[in-house]
Amino acid sequence: MIREFGKKIEEWFGLRLNKNKQKELPVLLVQRARFLGFRTEQEYLRHLGSNTSLDTEMKYWASVLTVNETYFFRNREQWKALEEVVIPYLLMKNSDTHQLSFLSLGAASGEEPYTLALVLASSFPHLTDWNIEIHATDIDEEKISAARNGLYAQRSVNTVPDELLEQYFLRCNGRYRLDDKIRSKVRFFYHNILKLPSGLPHGKYDVIICRNVIIYFSESVAKTLIRRMAEMLTPQGFLMLGHSEGYLTSGLNVSPRFEQGAVLYQYNNGISATSDSSDPFACQLQSPLAPEMQEFRDDRGSNDDVLDQSREKEHVQEVLEEILPLIDKKKFWEAKQRLDYVLSLKPLSPHAFYLLGMWYFMQEMYGDALHQFDKVRYIKPDHVMNLLHLALTSQKLGKMTEAREYYHYLTTVLQSVPSELCIDEYHNLTAGFIRILAERNMKGLSYA
Ligand SMILES: C[S@@+](CC[C@H](N)C(=O)[O-])C[C@H]1O[C@@H](n2cnc3c(N)ncnc32)[C@H](O)[C@@H]1O
Repeated sequence: MIREFGKKIEEWFGLRLNKNKQKELPVLLVQRARFLGFRTEQEYLRHLGSNTSLDTEMKYWASVLTVNETYFFRNREQWKALEEVVIPYLLMKNSDTHQLSFLSLGAASGEEPYTLALVLASSFPHLTDWNIEIHATDIDEEKISAARNGLYAQRSVNTVPDELLEQYFLRCNGRYRLDDKIRSKVRFFYHNILKLPSGLPHGKYDVIICRNVIIYFSESVAKTLIRRMAEMLTPQGFLMLGHSEGYLTSGLNVSPRFEQGAVLYQYNNGISATSDSSDPFACQLQSPLAPEMQEFRDDRGSNDDVLDQSREKEHVQEVLEEILPLIDKKKFWEAKQRLDYVLSLKPLSPHAFYLLGMWYFMQEMYGDALHQFDKVRYIKPDHVMNLLHLALTSQKLGKMTEAREYYHYLTTVLQSVPSELCIDEYHNLTAGFIRILAERNMKGLSYA
């Protein structure tokens, strides 16, 4: 019965419940059934089957089961890319129409679309004669009304630059009220992303932001949604996904663009690369991947970045295998010699970046370590040991929200890996062990 209800949830919202939520579900069902006056949860489920008040019930479960974690300027490098590359490009591209359209899907309590409004207001104040619309949607009505209210707790605004906090927020009773001028720029709608594009127009938006939403869906649903989102973009419009969602774009109608340390995805459908020679981005579409990204694709194309027939590649593999034991024994100089050698032959090997991250990590140079692990994340988002170290390093740097996100994603990745599979042969770490470690650390973080 519970399993069937779980399936219904997936059908309604796309959400696949993680183990914790699956465990909670029976209790939540009983609570809901009692609250509505049903004698048993079976009776309640039968009532759902009969469809009366289904809409209210769907809304209730959406607000109970969705993960609403968000904050202003989340993943700052993406906002930097938007500010420094994407918006200037769009201003040039749309100079005839003076029109810009943005859409934030799964906007939760609004921090994401409001960050966009803040970037526009603070860095592009001269656009007064432009028609700029920012639409934002979510399936959780409570979050939408919180978004419309624009009142935020400290943790939401921790990442807002001081000057913007000062200029656009008013402190009231320990919370922060967003300025009406910014609030009025964003229009919020209740919308289920599974129903895309119904209610939202095709070919309209210059930028669609949908971060940390489809990660909770099955891969096939997520891929269908990316395809639909791309079709809602203007030609060569941009899609912003969450850190761990990029791998879902492979083979679809968007191409990765690496800008300011962030990856954005550009709609590439039906565009001839040479159709507009005055468009700098169109030219780049002839070779949609920058050289470093071309390498990235080569790396992703194989199961193992050093799995190659040539002897040189075999040699690289042997050298790579020597590095972790050296780092472990704190023979940093010897390890670095080998890393430099590998990187001179394979300048974008994710495995070498991971080991370089470990090299810094073991010397407690956590900022540098994070930088290397971050590179691996773009290349191999599901690299289990890298995710573990992204979480551990973020923790060391006091970035608890990021740490929690990495642990969460790690446990999601590990759900589809057999427990007994050995992930790190040198340290003899199995998938099961890493999962327990991640869950324990995540729990520790929630109590911290
Ligand atoms: C983790 S939050 C992400 C918030 C924001 N995008 C960010 O990255 O900071 C995920 C949001 O997606 C929403 N969501 C989940 N399933 C959805 C669906 N089927 N349609 C629309 N929104 C959905 C949830 O209600 C939640 O607010």
